[in-house]
Amino acid sequence: MKPMISGLLIVIAFRSSASTHGEDCQDAESCSQLLLQTHLFTRDRAEEYHWASGRGNFPKYAVSAHPAPFNLPAAFTWQWHHPLGRFATLTYGTVIDGESNIYLSAADGVRKFDQHGTILWEYLSLPAEVMNAPALYSGMVHASDTHGHIFALDMRTGKQVWRTRVAEKIGQDNGFNMVHEGIALAACDHRKPSNYDEANQKVKALNASTGDELWTFHPDTPVWNFLPLFVDDSSVVFQDMTGKVYRLNLSTGLLLWKAGGLNGTWTDGGVAVGPNGLVYAVNLNLTTPRPPNNAPAVGIVKNLKGFSVVMPLCQQQTRGATCDVHVYDAETGGLRWIFHGPAQTGVLQAGDAEGISRRIQHGVRAACLPNGWSAPTIDSDGTVFVGNEEGNFYALRDMDGDGVIFGEDEVALYDTKASFAGSSSPAVAPGLLAVASCDSLFVFKSSTIHPTGF
Ligand SMILES: *[C@@H]1O[C@H](CO)[C@@H](O)[C@H](O)[C@H]1NC(C)=O
Ligand SMILES: *[C@@H]1O[C@H](CO)[C@@H](O)[C@H](O)[C@H]1NC(C)=O
Ligand SMILES: *[C@@H]1O[C@H](CO)[C@@H](O)[C@H](O)[C@H]1NC(C)=O
Ligand SMILES: *[C@@H]1O[C@H](CO)[C@@H](O)[C@H](O)[C@H]1NC(C)=O
Repeated sequence: MKPMISGLLIVIAFRSSASTHGEDCQDAESCSQLLLQTHLFTRDRAEEYHWASGRGNFPKYAVSAHPAPFNLPAAFTWQWHHPLGRFATLTYGTVIDGESNIYLSAADGVRKFDQHGTILWEYLSLPAEVMNAPALYSGMVHASDTHGHIFALDMRTGKQVWRTRVAEKIGQDNGFNMVHEGIALAACDHRKPSNYDEANQKVKALNASTGDELWTFHPDTPVWNFLPLFVDDSSVVFQDMTGKVYRLNLSTGLLLWKAGGLNGTWTDGGVAVGPNGLVYAVNLNLTTPRPPNNAPAVGIVKNLKGFSVVMPLCQQQTRGATCDVHVYDAETGGLRWIFHGPAQTGVLQAGDAEGISRRIQHGVRAACLPNGWSAPTIDSDGTVFVGNEEGNFYALRDMDGDGVIFGEDEVALYDTKASFAGSSSPAVAPGLLAVASCDSLFVFKSSTIHPTGF
């Protein structure tokens, strides 16, 4: 369940204490760091997962090296919903391996599809629900469930490799399991107190190959829609529900620094990291016109110089509330373009109210009650892909440079008829684009590029 807040929020930025993403290295230490990272990046790439986590691949999260099709209606190829009906489960996060197979997390488990839509395996989890976007790492799919388990499945077979109970409960919010350098991270210990009812109190690190617990970190305030992003080979950043950012040593869990946050507040936004050494976080601070209730994406947006921050804004679960996508200059925070999305027409978001009784019957949570937008993804053409709570999945770009996204050359959409969870994040592979609404998986293909031709 997500709280209703009639407030406004701000995007804040912190210079991280050390950037290892720059092209320059002025001294021996930073040069060796750069070399180390290049080596690690090469090894990650060697695994050839096209979209390894809900937020894509380290270090360029939320950005694809491949173009995705702009013309969504023309590119739509197949969709999947539970065989017992759209409302028999809720669908959340998508990741894509090196052979363009798609893995989907859902309230009733995890499934693997080939690129043509054939189910290869399913791992059923009920009565525990899988809320987070999963992550692919070294041949395993990493995920969490609401009964306090963090687990890993064999990517080929879907069989459980390990499962560790780290807490009594893990939240019904939509976060992200993330893995790097052999360490799997997830939030857990869902209980009061927090600034919004029950929430995950702890961050856990597990050995990604064995499931053994390595360390536990207690943030000052619980996390919501937990999204840890790795900034180099040995540290990770994330924010808590007040927007306070933490940078931890990945191997020890010790705090390197923390900054920002607004005491007493709640957001289901998350962090983004830029190649410029900045961490972007969101909090409730009455600054943007609508709450930035999701993680931004930082990358090169079509027809804009340098890096941009793509920030979906929306007051979810409020009839009549409008939803925008803002794009800011990544260095200055200056507004670069706006897309005015639709206003919420129903009492609940698209597809939510009509599925309640069927969902209860199937033993999954009654409603999706998600963010106003999915997390955004930027493809290699600089097009922004994002799903809206009224059901439209959008491709957005500013062709005429007027700062407003409008017209068929700038906006393409596919109506999925349902809203998008916070852990829904469009996944891109060569010639392939996959995104989950709250009840179905949608796959789009480019007519000119064949996904197997990596
Ligand atoms: C995980 O466990 C394996 C097997 O015990 C060990 O070799 C490896 O070093 C561990 N990794 C971490 C990050 O602790
Ligand atoms: C993290 O801790 C390890 C072990 O103490 C240390 O070798 C490494 O330099 C630390 N990394 C950072 C970024 O502090
Ligand atoms: C809240 O916004 C004000 C005005 O923009 C700013 O001065 C302050 O630093 C912000 N506080 C936080 C915690 O973001
Ligand atoms: C926020 O709360 C913490 C702990 O309750 C306190 O130490 C800190 O001073 C507070 N910060 C502000 C800006 O009020």
